[in-house]
Amino acid sequence: MNRVLGWAVALGLSLAAGGCGGDDGDDASSPSTTTSSGYFESLPPGFPTPKESVDNPLTNAKIELGRHLFYDPRMSVNQTMACASCHQPARAFSDGRPTSIGATGENHPRNAMSLSNVVYNATFNWANPGLATLHAQALIPMFGEFPVELGWSDREAEILDRFRHDPLYRQLFADAYPGESDPFDADRVAKAIAAFGSTLISGNSPYDQSTYQGNRNAMSEAARRGQELFFSERMECFHCHGGFNFSQAVSHSNITLAQAEFHNNGLYNINGTGDYPLSNRGLWEFTHRSADMGRFRAPTLRNIELTAPYMHDGSIATLEEVLDHYSRGGRLIAEGPLAGDGAKNPFKSELIVGFSLTTREKQDVIAFLQSLTDWAFLCDPRFADPFGNFEAHSHCHQ
Ligand code: HEC
Ligand code: HEC
Repeated sequence: MNRVLGWAVALGLSLAAGGCGGDDGDDASSPSTTTSSGYFESLPPGFPTPKESVDNPLTNAKIELGRHLFYDPRMSVNQTMACASCHQPARAFSDGRPTSIGATGENHPRNAMSLSNVVYNATFNWANPGLATLHAQALIPMFGEFPVELGWSDREAEILDRFRHDPLYRQLFADAYPGESDPFDADRVAKAIAAFGSTLISGNSPYDQSTYQGNRNAMSEAARRGQELFFSERMECFHCHGGFNFSQAVSHSNITLAQAEFHNNGLYNINGTGDYPLSNRGLWEFTHRSADMGRFRAPTLRNIELTAPYMHDGSIATLEEVLDHYSRGGRLIAEGPLAGDGAKNPFKSELIVGFSLTTREKQDVIAFLQSLTDWAFLCDPRFADPFGNFEAHSHCHQ
């Protein structure tokens, strides 16, 4: 069975498989409403109000429970791995590997995504048009079997018992789900983790300070030159990595129906047929339409300096090489089983056309991308591991 559909069936999720419509991807409306808890009242300047899920209202107690669960290795079948193992705070909540490895050693085909501003995503994961809430997303690493990440399937009761019998969690669950006699179930675990995830908002980088907070000098001269290039028609980056989140397909309270968009940016062209590797074909995995081959979501570029390696399969090691890829208009793989010229992929986005940059311009664009690193976010104690196992970035201790 198709891996992703396999998950969906296993989880009872309703995914828009098969019947996907127009060229711009599917509508991904989430069952959400405008914020009601007041939790999002002090947002960074320039940031819209996130939607809050109607069936998962935010409370401080729920967020605090979620933070504990997110960092707790008891969340995995063999107690070796937490969400934070693949979403490490020191790496802007990514894992530093090209592709992830689950608790029992199974290989995930994809690169662990940063969780910066994840609450604003219209859809989740690299290319899943039907995954519209953080709550539904969390159930995938918990229960997914293709591959096993945390390994909850068949072991759910045993894992929940670990929390049910721990005095700390008895208190945390009671506070998060007041009045419920037995709140220890997978759904409430996922909801609490989703609540925590939705607070991971990053909007205080030098770029933000310069753009929204009147502190122009927060950005270096080089970064400002790079910003102009990034937003130029020569480079075209902003068309797909745009708006306050440098991403596409955002969802917030001013948008009623979010458009999810997916693009092929020319990473592969196996044998010149346009193919991507079998385990990583993007939107095609849902639609089986050839035009969707290799189409993935343009992820946020916030804190991008810390989330190497890059792309859905971690196949680009550095930001320099990312710029080489785009300036060539696609990647050439000269030999081996994946050989082919991505620049000639017939399904490539027409915005990926190539350009040339001088050495200094390239450095400037990288300085700009580095100006999206938000130390206030990365070092924020509200997002830190309550058990002290997962360290913040060394920069935070200086
Ligand atoms: C084995 C490593 C691993 C573990 C453990 C893991 N993740 Fe992930 N996470 C990934 C990978 C890989 C992706 C990209 C998945 C894809 O595109 O198919 C991802 C994607 C995500 C996303 C989507 C981000 C976005 O921008 O769309 C969220 C949210 C997330 N994970 C949260 C969690 C939570 C919460 C947990 C714990 C319940 C968790 N993850 C456990 C590796 C992991
Ligand atoms: C046509 C839309 C589009 C344009 C234009 C575009 N990107 Fe992307 N970008 C994407 C998509 C889609 C991905 C993910 C592709 C994949 O993994 O297969 C991506 C991935 C990236 C990544 C890796 C993100 C991560 O978390 O691994 C970086 C960095 C990046 N782009 C920077 C840029 C820069 C710099 C430019 C301008 C030169 C640019 N992009 C232009 C769509 C675009």
